[in-house]
Amino acid sequence: MRTDLVKLDKGDLHTAVGKEKLKQAAKLLRAGEVVAFPTETVYGLGANGMDVHASLKIYEAKGRPSNNPLILHIAEFDQLDGIARDISEDAWKLMKAFWPGPMTIILHKREEVPVETTGGLSTVAVRMPSHPVARELILQAGVPIAAPSANKSGRPSPTEAIHVMEDMEGRIPMILDGGKVGIGIESTIVDMTEEKPVILRPGFITPEMVDEIVSGVTIDPAIMGGPLAEGLKPKAPGMMYRHYAPLGDMWLVEGAMEDVVRKINEMTKEQQQLGYKVAVIGTDENIGDYQADIVRSIGSRKDPAQIGASLYGTLREMDQLGVQIIYAESYGEEEFFGAIRNRILKAAGYQVLKV
Ligand code: TXA
Ligand code: MG
Repeated sequence: MRTDLVKLDKGDLHTAVGKEKLKQAAKLLRAGEVVAFPTETVYGLGANGMDVHASLKIYEAKGRPSNNPLILHIAEFDQLDGIARDISEDAWKLMKAFWPGPMTIILHKREEVPVETTGGLSTVAVRMPSHPVARELILQAGVPIAAPSANKSGRPSPTEAIHVMEDMEGRIPMILDGGKVGIGIESTIVDMTEEKPVILRPGFITPEMVDEIVSGVTIDPAIMGGPLAEGLKPKAPGMMYRHYAPLGDMWLVEGAMEDVVRKINEMTKEQQQLGYKVAVIGTDENIGDYQADIVRSIGSRKDPAQIGASLYGTLREMDQLGVQIIYAESYGEEEFFGAIRNRILKAAGYQVLKV
């Protein structure tokens, strides 16, 4: 299969050429095909979520286990009627506060949604993205669009169209290239099928922000801190897999900043002497102090948004450069850093060195 990489910036949406490109993409979706598209979080791999065969094509393209459910993306509140039922007052409050935007809400599913889309669950994950290209595409397709992140299973989520090309070339007919995404970390997932909101995956929208709208927020214990405790099963099946992982052996180094820098340099030297290619993922504040084969800053500690936006691209670059050992600085849990730390921990397979 040939994969067309079609440039479509949000500014082009209202030009004749842009409209034509969008029309082609929507036509493919209506025909049951898979199209990758930008959202404000990461690129998605979209197909008609109400069509069993179209959903199955997503699993095939991603190489994803069929029990890991997909998120249905909508562009208008009206579309909710067809996919979810018994929506609580509190769920409505969250949707009104955070949609369109980087939040996915788990609701009770309607019969009409195929279990192939929800991985066999009786609940459904729904999200209304804010990216103009995503919104227009969903509107034109006229159906809820099932879309996981557009990476092959186990790879970091794509934050640029070229990342999607790396993973999906030859597997899907079209990628809409809307440039770099804004947030770079997948949406916050909130389960609203119980009495109180439960965060199943941290994201740009923090637990504190959710709690301000609906109080009593808790975090699924299975996704906190360390490797999954024995017997604890995350409620979002996808949080179970070792995700976002670069090929190199990655370690998170934690402690006072100057100790971290010293320890990383020490270990780098040791590993280089053993013949390994070593990389450091640091921040603007300390980046000048490292000696390694590859040294990358993912932004300033004063700007978590920048760090979130460059994390996955940097992890992909590590694979391209054939890096064998990666040392990464660590981050706190305040605000967006909570989600960033969660993804870095997963990328490192929870390998943490305390200094
Ligand atoms: O930002 C995002 O959410 C991106 C963009 C494309 O919208 N999508 C995304 O999808 O990250 P995916 O498939 O990579 O991650 C979806 C997560 C998985 O961990 C999955 O297990 C969980 O959502 N999930 C989906 N449906 C669920 C359900 N009914 N109950 C619990 N977890 C669910
Ligand atoms: Mg994913």
